[in-house]
Amino acid sequence: MQEHSSGLTAAVIADLRQRAAIAAQSSYSPYSHFRVGAALLLTFGDSTEETIVTGCNVENASFRLTTCAEQAAIATAVGLYGPQIKLRAVAVANLNSAASMPCGACRQTILEFSTPETWVFYPGENGSAAEATLADLLPAAFRLHQS
Ligand code: THU
Repeated sequence: MQEHSSGLTAAVIADLRQRAAIAAQSSYSPYSHFRVGAALLLTFGDSTEETIVTGCNVENASFRLTTCAEQAAIATAVGLYGPQIKLRAVAVANLNSAASMPCGACRQTILEFSTPETWVFYPGENGSAAEATLADLLPAAFRLHQS
């Protein structure tokens, strides 16, 4: 199996994208009708164990209370596996045949559990499959340093 520059196989990436699309079917999006899903490939410290957790966007009549798919998936992952989770990869999909990158808030949320090897796979323009490292999507990110 050919390796992608992320170090993940094409099959793993395709599976993550498909799981994100399946998660999008659960989207609660009566306001935007933009149905988004996210699939996280999780790792746990030095362990070779990996697992996948998914989530979808959940909107609210008070619009700013909407939760993005990526944030929902990450909250679920922490709830299930605890604070040590690391994101090896995040796949995002939507059922609207639209290009969509993780929003700025989601990039910051992904950063919280990221490593230098965290890759993001998302729908590009004209039905293409796009991808980037989180470092490329969120350069000069905010980090909290306290003395
Ligand atoms: N949305 C996500 O779920 N993830 C993103 O990264 C961008 C936007 C959702 C939020 C809202 O429910 C809908 O897409 C339209 O903005």
